[in-house]
Amino acid sequence: MAKKPTDGLSPLYTYQEGMEWNPVEKVIMERRSIRAFKKEPVPNSLIRRVLEAGRFAPSAGNAQPWKFIVVKDQELIAEMDRATAKLTKFMMWFVDYNRGPIRRLLLAPFTRFMTRFMPNKLHPIPFNLLQQISADKASSFYNPPVMILLLIDKRGVGVPALDAGICGQNMVLAAHSLGLGTCWVGMMTVLMMNPLWRRKLGIKSPYELTDCILMGWPKGDYDGEVPREVQTVEWIEAGGVRRVERQGV
Ligand SMILES: Cc1cc2nc3c(=O)[nH]c(=O)nc-3n(C[C@H](O)[C@H](O)[C@H](O)COP(=O)(O)O)c2cc1C
Repeated sequence: MAKKPTDGLSPLYTYQEGMEWNPVEKVIMERRSIRAFKKEPVPNSLIRRVLEAGRFAPSAGNAQPWKFIVVKDQELIAEMDRATAKLTKFMMWFVDYNRGPIRRLLLAPFTRFMTRFMPNKLHPIPFNLLQQISADKASSFYNPPVMILLLIDKRGVGVPALDAGICGQNMVLAAHSLGLGTCWVGMMTVLMMNPLWRRKLGIKSPYELTDCILMGWPKGDYDGEVPREVQTVEWIEAGGVRRVERQGV
C-alpha cells in the first residue's frame, strides 16, 4: 500500500525528558523573519508545495475561510511598494503629530481619537514603522520574488482571521523547512485602504485581505533574533490545585 504523507509522524510514547528538539520543533524555533531576498526566482512547484501546507491547515468547522493570491510580477510588487509609501505619507500627514509644535497642537486631538478608534493599527510599533516608511527610510515589502496574499472569506465560521493566521503559519513553517525565507507583512493592509488596489488585485467581497507573506531565497543571514517574553502560565492540576509557572526562563 502506498505510504500516506503523514506516515511516521506523531510517534506515540517516544518522548523522553530532555530529548533533542525534533525536526518540527527545530523548524518552529529556528524560523526568523527574512527581510532580504536573492533575485533568484522560486520554482512554481515549490510555491505550490508551500500553498499545500496552507490548504491543509485546520479551521473552525472545516470552513477553510481563506483564499490565496500569488504575486510574482516584480514590476507589480515594486508598484505596490511605491503605492504603500505614498498612502503612508498621506495617512501620516494627518496622524503623525510629532513634527513640530504647531502640528502637535492641531493634530493631537485627532490622533488621539484615531488611536482609540484603531488601537491595534496605530499601536506604537506599527506607528514607528509607518513613520519610517513615510520618511523613505524603510520599504514595506523588501522586494521579494513571491508574495502570497492571504484573504479571508468573511462568511467563515467563528473567527476567520484566526483560521487564516493558522493557515499562513503552516505555509511559513513549510517554507522554512524547504530552505525559503518568509516575512509576514501587515503593511499590506495600508494598500487595501485604496479600492483601486483592491480591484487591481481582484479582491472583492466576501473576501478581504488579512495579511501577506513575502517569500524567497534568503540573502545572507536573518537580521537578528527578537527576544520572546517569559510567559506566566497558570496550571490547574487534578483536584483543582492551581499554581503559576514561568515559561521560558
Ligand atoms: C501578522 C504579522 C504581521 C507582520 N507585519 C510585519 C510588517 O509589516 N513588516 C515587517 O517588517 N515585519 C512584520 N512582521 C514580522 C514581525 O516583526 C516578526 O515576526 C517579529 O518581530 C518576530 O521576529 P521573528 O519573526 O524574526 O521571530 C509581522 C509578523 C506578523 C506575525
